[in-house]
Amino acid sequence: MSEKQDDRNILNDLFSVINKLILVMVLLIVFMVALPLGYYISNLPKRPKVVLEDAPAVLAEVKKIVQEYWIAPDVSTISDPTEKETVEYGRELIAHTSKYLGPNGSVMQISNGMNCQNCHLQAGTAVFANNYGSVASLYPKFRARSGAVENVEKRVNDCFERSLNGSALDDNSKEMKAIVAYINYLGTNVKKGEKAAGSGFKDLAFLDRAADPINGKAVYAGKCVSCHQPDGSGLLNPDKSEYTFPPLWGKNSYNDGAGLYRISNFAKYVKYNMPIGATHENPQLSDEEAWDIAAFVNSQARPHINVPKDWPDKSKKPIDHPFGPFADTFTEKQHKYGPFKPIAEEQKKREAAAALANEKKI
Ligand code: HEC
Ligand code: HEC
Repeated sequence: MSEKQDDRNILNDLFSVINKLILVMVLLIVFMVALPLGYYISNLPKRPKVVLEDAPAVLAEVKKIVQEYWIAPDVSTISDPTEKETVEYGRELIAHTSKYLGPNGSVMQISNGMNCQNCHLQAGTAVFANNYGSVASLYPKFRARSGAVENVEKRVNDCFERSLNGSALDDNSKEMKAIVAYINYLGTNVKKGEKAAGSGFKDLAFLDRAADPINGKAVYAGKCVSCHQPDGSGLLNPDKSEYTFPPLWGKNSYNDGAGLYRISNFAKYVKYNMPIGATHENPQLSDEEAWDIAAFVNSQARPHINVPKDWPDKSKKPIDHPFGPFADTFTEKQHKYGPFKPIAEEQKKREAAAALANEKKI
């Protein structure tokens, strides 16, 4: 062999060793990068699997959140200072009526010491607590009790004369203007002609039996007496300017022409609002208890109002209006305490027959 060839062989060997070394290093690098990368990828957060069976529950949850009840607009955001002052005075009169217009009222003495807010909770803004959300949008409206189209002033005075067993405010008085301005302001976020969700009272199913005042008395003794007192006369605050706990019967309570004297209204109000702190989402009375307490409280003595012109069309009387004459043959007692289902069924039949007769005329 020549010397040259020897050299080449050595070089070849050297190259092949270097090649192998490079290969090993490349493989090493690939492993060092690929392994952690693979590990990283395999640990990336996985997209949660949506289980189809959960869908209705999820939807119900979403609906609950989106379910909208009317929310009163914020009085403090009114930009016009004169309007703001009027509306705020109106709210004050609703919340603390007695201080201004009660037996020792600073402006006039025209009512029994109750506050509008006693029955229209949180100055008429609370859900299913008889709020004023739908007044601006639905008045003036026809009301069967008077048989006439009523404006907001008339409706406000109805509560002064009946719920507050007092006398009407002059439509042009500063106080009436403020109350109406406040009630109308509350309705600014409700479209004309529409009802605000959660306004007025929440429905309550009829019982199959008559409401029972004796059972109601027992429930009253357990759940209401601590605030409203054994004789139902409530509790005045120390300076006697308004009630801490308003009366439920007796001379300072609402009279027998008031909305709350109908036991369906009373039962709906207390079912979803009493004892104070209860709400429609967290009621504290069973349906039976609510109806029975309503029967008990509304069978106690209270002021009488003479309103012979109420319900000029007697067929339009609500089924629990307790004074005849009626368009049916049920007794006053059944109209007062129930059972109401048979009366409601007959009323429905009567209305259907009347509608049919009307169609034939046309
Ligand atoms: C003893 C409870 C009670 C008091 C106090 C009371 N109200 Fe009422 N008010 C009711 C009831 C019950 C109704 C609903 C009656 C019905 O639908 O038959 C009502 C209805 C109304 C309505 C109509 C609401 C609507 O959506 O149609 C207005 C307005 C109103 N009251 C204003 C007042 C004002 C103003 C005062 C204070 C001067 C007042 N109320 C005090 C019980 C009360
Ligand atoms: C812890 C005290 C408390 C208890 C217990 C309580 N209430 Fe009331 N109730 C109040 C207060 C306070 C108001 C007035 C709310 C306001 O002005 O904001 C009120 C208002 C009322 C009203 C409307 C105003 C009126 O005087 O006519 C009725 C009706 C009523 N309560 C019935 C009941 C019934 C029925 C029970 C028992 C199931 C009951 N309450 C239990 C504190 C209580």
